[in-house]
Amino acid sequence: MFFQNHIFCCTNRREAGHTRGCCAEKDGEQLRDYMKMRVKELGIAKTRVNNSGCLDRCELGPCIVIYPEGIWYSPKTKADIDEIIELHLQQGKIVERLTLPEA
Ligand code: FES
Repeated sequence: MFFQNHIFCCTNRREAGHTRGCCAEKDGEQLRDYMKMRVKELGIAKTRVNNSGCLDRCELGPCIVIYPEGIWYSPKTKADIDEIIELHLQQGKIVERLTLPEA
């Protein structure tokens, strides 16, 4: 298998004042950059951090989804990203406090 984990980070940007908002205005790009950097620095194998367009859960953003599990998170800070990397990617545990509801 080429990649074991695929992480899609919404970095979609809408015009200011849009009713749904967007992940870019909630630091989606900076958090994506940080996650990408830390995954590389820590040498987490078979893991790809990708940009994503709108994942259609804008109001709950910034949104990321990790496959193959299909777990949705809304990390607000770099510390949240660190926790997702350590617990989810390195230990295989879901970080419940940062998950988005199923529906
Ligand atoms: S703008 Fe990120 S989910 Fe829609």
